[in-house]
Amino acid sequence: MAPTKKILIGCTGSVATIKLPELCEKLRDHCLEFRVVVTERAKHFLKESELPPGTQILSDTVEWAAWQDRGDPVLHIDLAKWADLFLIAPLDANTLGKIASGICDNILTCVARAWDVKKPLLFCPAMNTRMWDHPITAPQVF
Ligand SMILES: Cc1cc2nc3c(=O)[nH]c(=O)nc-3n(C[C@H](O)[C@H](O)[C@H](O)COP(=O)(O)O)c2cc1C
Repeated sequence: MAPTKKILIGCTGSVATIKLPELCEKLRDHCLEFRVVVTERAKHFLKESELPPGTQILSDTVEWAAWQDRGDPVLHIDLAKWADLFLIAPLDANTLGKIASGICDNILTCVARAWDVKKPLLFCPAMNTRMWDHPITAPQVF
């Protein structure tokens, strides 16, 4: 049997993060291995009790607690190596702008900055059309 693909889901501070349980269930139904990284704002839209049992939610809190001394893991680097595919869904306007300009000030944007561009990175922008239609958006996406 072919080895399972490992998917890293990234969630940002869009209200569409409420759909995460549904996405996790679909991946689980297809027997895909996944982990989830979230921004601090994304946490506001998450109800961990609705996620499939055992879903790992990785955030800045987890990342900073994991590193105490030399030799300890640097989680965003390990995750960028671990995953075969990075799916940022939803991708809000703020994080889109940050990634497009190379800013990496949280675990999710650090994974994106450390991402091997030979591996797929998919993103699902989610924002009000007033934000999407602003002229600053197009050059960030293309
Ligand atoms: C209730 C609520 C819903 C929001 N939904 C969206 C959204 O769908 N898309 C978006 O781009 N920003 C949305 N925002 C704004 C982001 O949460 C805000 O820009 C935040 O700083 C994003 O942080 P992050 O990119 O680190 O997750 C929303 C804010 C609130 C208060």
